[in-house]
Amino acid sequence: MKSAIIMAAGKGTRMHSQLPKVMHKVCQKPMLGHILDQLKKAQLDRIVTVVGYGHEQVQAAMEGQTEFVLQSPQLGTGHAVMQTAPLLSREEGKTLVVNGDCPCVQSETYQAMMDALEDCGMVVLTAVLQDPRQYGRVVRNPQGMIEKIVEYKDATEEERKIQEINTGIYCFDNQALFRYLKELQNDNAQQEYYITDLVEIFNRNGLGVRAKVIEDSQEAAGINDKKELAQANRWMQKKINERWMEAGVTLINPDSTYIGPDVVLGQDVTLYPNVYLEGNTVIGEGTTILPQSFLVNAVIGKHCRIDSSRITDSVIHDEVTVGPFAHLRMNCEVDSKNRIGNFVEFKNTRMGFDSRCAHLTYLGDSDIGSRVNIGCGVITVNYDGKNKFHTTVKDGAFIGSNVNLIAPLTVGENAVVAAGSTATQDVPDGDMAIGRVRQENKPGYGLVYKNKEKK
Ligand code: UD1
Ligand code: CA
Repeated sequence: MKSAIIMAAGKGTRMHSQLPKVMHKVCQKPMLGHILDQLKKAQLDRIVTVVGYGHEQVQAAMEGQTEFVLQSPQLGTGHAVMQTAPLLSREEGKTLVVNGDCPCVQSETYQAMMDALEDCGMVVLTAVLQDPRQYGRVVRNPQGMIEKIVEYKDATEEERKIQEINTGIYCFDNQALFRYLKELQNDNAQQEYYITDLVEIFNRNGLGVRAKVIEDSQEAAGINDKKELAQANRWMQKKINERWMEAGVTLINPDSTYIGPDVVLGQDVTLYPNVYLEGNTVIGEGTTILPQSFLVNAVIGKHCRIDSSRITDSVIHDEVTVGPFAHLRMNCEVDSKNRIGNFVEFKNTRMGFDSRCAHLTYLGDSDIGSRVNIGCGVITVNYDGKNKFHTTVKDGAFIGSNVNLIAPLTVGENAVVAAGSTATQDVPDGDMAIGRVRQENKPGYGLVYKNKEKK
């Protein structure tokens, strides 16, 4: 049995924010979300999160991904772990205990910690830092095992010189953890129950404590303020971007390309600077995304070209060009070989194969067929101030420029709506609708008008 306990009850005072610390985002995802993802990758059987400050918010966001226990009041990291006893104290096996403010730790590191728990009771992930700041210091014995961890606030001048620090990530023999947790005392500078005091208790009882030193200390950095949050963000973005470059994606400037942790990219995708890909976005092979594009939960096919556009919660099939300056949102689906041009907005709209909508258009709540041409400046009038109505344009139809399609409305197969029309009635298959004022020419009036004196 492999379990994990995430300590996430603290407020994060140094963030100066209403948001609970673990809900602050690194690469678009809350810190706690990253920890859960990596623990799941390490194939834990059970994950228990200790919540406290803002627990309603944390629980709502992470529902179904972990079990929760409440810690109230918050009397320290050792006290946090004690709260999980009703759930975990009877289990046999290995238990990871992790600080909720270490979002960058990778599953391989968790795995290595569990592997290192042989012939000892506890493994501590440590790091060697040039500037060890306020971290707890790791004191080793002559055999190289850990003798104790001293919190900065409780440390002597000599101890503060130690550069090896406690990252706040541990692996325990589960039975030993819950047996000795009861012995923690709070006679220290902060009057808290420190989980780190277990090191001395284990040593007293003949259970050794091993250190596992992390190579890249940023991976295990604890986030306590907005500056550290920004550092973690940079580190993680670099890692994500490098992974995609290794897989055959071209980033013109990796330093200004923002790819979320759950985004999936195909081979030969090219991303220009200032592209933001968020949520469960998927980009197909050979597609190019030009600068200033912002995609959230967008599924884009192969060999598309997306230029300076915003696409959210929508699907685009192969060989489609979008933009510049298009906006597709709320459940749109655009079939292959389409062209969505500049200043076009689609909302809750489907468009069939090989159609065109090249300029200055709003299509909302619509189903557009295949080989349809939507002229410049077409608008679906889908809202009467109270209700939304649907527009259907069938295969092969031609909608001229500057047409208002007043919904509910159906334009039939191969039907035509003449430019400048305001269509208020359905157009049968193959018919043409013209709904505009007939033109009248006034001979010579143009010159009269032009030659008029200015008052
Ligand atoms: C802790 C370690 C320190 C280590 C550092 C690494 C202890 C006593 N000290 O210090 O050795 O160098 O992490 O970042 O463990 N939490 C609770 N309930 C509580 C208190 C804390 O859930 O009652 C949670 C916090 O939400 C946070 C984590 O535990 O996610 C760590 O708490 P924090 O106060 O940041 O500990 P540090 O002082 O940084
Ligand atoms: Ca911390």
